[in-house]
Amino acid sequence: MDPKAVKSDLVLILDYGSQYTHLITRRIRSLSVFSLCINGTSPLKAITELNPRVVILSGGPHSVHIPDSPSFPDGFTEWAESNGVFVLGICYGLQLIVQKLGGEVRVGEKQEYGRMEIEVGNNSGIFGNRSVGDKQVVWMSHGDEVARLPEGFEIVGKSQQGTVAAVQGRDRRFYGLQYHPEVTHSPEGMETLRYFLFDICGIAAGWKMEDVMEEEIEVIKGTVGPEDHVICALSGGVDSTVAATLVHKAIGDRLHCVFVDNGLLRYKERERVMETFERDLHLPVTCVDAIEQFLSKLKGVEEPEMKRKIIGKEFICIFDAFAHDLEQKLGRKPAYLVQGTLYPDVIESCPPPGTGRTHSHTIKSHHNVGGLPKDMKLKLIEPLKLLFKDEVRQLGKILNVPEGFLKRHPFPGPGLAVRVLGDVTKNNALDILREVDEIFIQSIKDAGLYDRIWQAFAVFLPVRSVGVQGDQRTHSHVVALRAVTSQDGMTADWYYFEHKFLDDVARKICNSVRGVNRVVQDITSKPPSTIEWE
Ligand code: XMP
Repeated sequence: MDPKAVKSDLVLILDYGSQYTHLITRRIRSLSVFSLCINGTSPLKAITELNPRVVILSGGPHSVHIPDSPSFPDGFTEWAESNGVFVLGICYGLQLIVQKLGGEVRVGEKQEYGRMEIEVGNNSGIFGNRSVGDKQVVWMSHGDEVARLPEGFEIVGKSQQGTVAAVQGRDRRFYGLQYHPEVTHSPEGMETLRYFLFDICGIAAGWKMEDVMEEEIEVIKGTVGPEDHVICALSGGVDSTVAATLVHKAIGDRLHCVFVDNGLLRYKERERVMETFERDLHLPVTCVDAIEQFLSKLKGVEEPEMKRKIIGKEFICIFDAFAHDLEQKLGRKPAYLVQGTLYPDVIESCPPPGTGRTHSHTIKSHHNVGGLPKDMKLKLIEPLKLLFKDEVRQLGKILNVPEGFLKRHPFPGPGLAVRVLGDVTKNNALDILREVDEIFIQSIKDAGLYDRIWQAFAVFLPVRSVGVQGDQRTHSHVVALRAVTSQDGMTADWYYFEHKFLDDVARKICNSVRGVNRVVQDITSKPPSTIEWE
């Protein structure tokens, strides 16, 4: 996706490392305004060529008093002022504005963290129609404070402790908030952002997913041209499916998809996803049955990292063979590869001081199934790389990807290999796990709980315990049930099922899955555990 192809007004966020920066981007997009986030120390050219109408300087854990603390590039203020660009500084961003434009920031006598009341001053400015003296609760998080304003600036709000909470330099089009309007702990923050964007800056809303789709299709057509072919590995997940569907809409059957059955898929997964790909989405997909190839390599392997390595390597072999076959068939090499990379994976953020890191490109490598063969020299098409997960779901909906498919829980690339502890080929573990998992998931769906849970699954434990089934002593397997709620998989909490639900599920599993006589539930959050057991 090419930001320059987007026709609506752009609000550009310069990121100085606040944990809330991505939230600002999301909040603005929720107002149907296109917003992007780039590193706060990007060169001037990177900023100007995006042609933003508004620039927001984010917060961050830095102090303007520390030498080399991150800042916008030289020439930024002059460029903004001479091009009619509006600038809003939030927290550290406000302090940057004040210091760089000739004011003064000092180390605060009292630091302000958490909920705080602020009062609207004589010039209500960014607070819109609020009257002088109106109070509101906001979320503060700062140690430094504004001591003296730059020329042409005025105070428009103060905290109950008397520190500067909001400023404006109306003629220069610079504004600043000491607090975080983007977090829900600032209940009127969204209203303030809305007023700023629409009433002060005159931003035109109108960034719609339908437009994103049309613009993206044009970009893909232009990139691939009239002749070239494109390949895509489908995992059965939302991202690769939506990415492939979009590319297919742009270039038709010059897209060639491959779906690999590695023997580590869930119950009837292959049939289910192939049906969606072919019947609902009409995607050209080759299904490769590689069950034997994977399982023979995994035989006897117990160590999780080793399993991952083997799986990654086999994926590459299959992918390579697929590309090679295609080349034979088409008489030319496929030139492009589609990947379902999302925006959170590519945002470069400004790391906190003292970490020794420079700006990091945060790709979750373990989530990219298998990686790419090094000598394939394919150029990448990443049509979702400016979108968040929920936006990808919206796009999928417009592209007629079935709703049930879009809401599927995430499934790890190495599949059930991370959910069978130990050797996946022993004790009929994979078949047992598939059956148990299906009962669990189906029960969750029947109880109407599926969409409330981030991820639910069963785990096969390589231990046996004694039981009694039908008057006979058994020595069978233990399975664990895991269900978690989460925003992004980085942290998670275990889901509280009603006892009756758990009782029914456990009974159903022991009654219908041969080889299982004990069911336990995982009641740990992440941290200290992870979501998967491995
Ligand atoms: P953990 O277990 O690290 O998982 O708490 C966080 C999220 O990532 C998924 N996960 C993976 N996804 N390849 C993937 O594509 C992997 O190797 C992998 N390991 C974990 C996990 O299912 C959860 O959603």
